[in-house]
Amino acid sequence: MPQSFKLAVIPGDGIGPEVVAEAVKVLDAVTEGTDLTFEKTHFSLGAGRFLETGDVLTDGDLAAIEQHDAILLGAVGGVPGDPRLANANIERGLLLRLRFSLDHYVNLRPTRLFPGIASPLADPGEVDFVVVREGTEGPYVGNGGAIRVGTPHEVANEVSVNTAFGVERVVRYAFGQAESRRGRLTLVHKTNVLTFAGSLWKRTVDAVAAEHPSVVVDYLHVDAATIFLVTNPARFDVIVTDNLFGDILTDLAAAISGGIGLAASGNINPEGDFPSMFEPVHGSAPDIAGQQKADPTAAILSVALLLRHLGAADAADRVDRAVIADLAARGPSHRTTAEIGDTIAALL
Ligand code: NAI
Ligand code: MG
Repeated sequence: MPQSFKLAVIPGDGIGPEVVAEAVKVLDAVTEGTDLTFEKTHFSLGAGRFLETGDVLTDGDLAAIEQHDAILLGAVGGVPGDPRLANANIERGLLLRLRFSLDHYVNLRPTRLFPGIASPLADPGEVDFVVVREGTEGPYVGNGGAIRVGTPHEVANEVSVNTAFGVERVVRYAFGQAESRRGRLTLVHKTNVLTFAGSLWKRTVDAVAAEHPSVVVDYLHVDAATIFLVTNPARFDVIVTDNLFGDILTDLAAAISGGIGLAASGNINPEGDFPSMFEPVHGSAPDIAGQQKADPTAAILSVALLLRHLGAADAADRVDRAVIADLAARGPSHRTTAEIGDTIAALL
């Protein structure tokens, strides 16, 4: 049955447009001659748009984006420290606003050490896990404030919000992932110190675990998790954790598995009430922007996540296999961003 999807494409800033061009190239290649079609709308958002118009994300932008089935995003953000962007707050006003408004409560970040890719770890073993990071709560909700700013008596608060509803839904999603993978789930938190939120997370995991007897459940404090991610990453299958811990752990996860150029992610609304958004974990990399030096693989793997989310598992598998083949043959070559995209598209 022919399936047509509306895709919102947000190339963004810096290397964003370069890697998105390759991701779209691969999407076109994998859907060519199939029943899948993607009708794409480009949205100009990010630091560049802010400098031109003063807008970060208008209500109109948001309403238009909501009309799509999925979102592909490159990266947004200008040169860190650019004084013209001092008040833009792209991270909160654009990325977090999209994730919160579109109820992306699952931030899915798979980590795999692909054949042919060198890890900085001497003996990493089989690295293949996913981090299910809560996306709409925790310390990132903007619940806080500051008074007496700039004085010796400044007070700054950022309150972590954890709701029974919010924790349960992301924990349920994580158990579903564990059941479809190797049946291991690790809760990462800091229950010994963050006792109120920690207790809610722990009790929720225990309660949901009772409904999933085939899943082996484990718990680690976040500090210990950083040790095991380095000493024995093969022990992990599914990690479920809060917004802040997940943000930090997934950079470490990317580092042990070949770097930020390979790390893909999905900001997912599992019920499909809103479009989910797929993006490389990396930022706009102003240091290499416009030079065709960026690795588009993370953006291309994000397309595979997008296809899988939309139910096109065959196409997703084909993209994954093409990327794996390219990585295995890659060696220390210095191909341009477009050459990597061309090779992967040709493998399809
Ligand atoms: P970054 O991820 O842009 O860059 C960190 C380092 O990794 C740089 O040396 C960069 O050259 C390298 N790098 C990143 N992606 C690469 C790729 N695909 N291939 C090869 N090398 C790559 O992080 P940074 O420098 O902290 O932030 C730059 C801008 O990006 C800032 O404005 C920041 O706010 C924004 N940002 C946006 C994100 C998003 O859109 N989701 C996420 C993280 C940062
Ligand atoms: Mg991060």
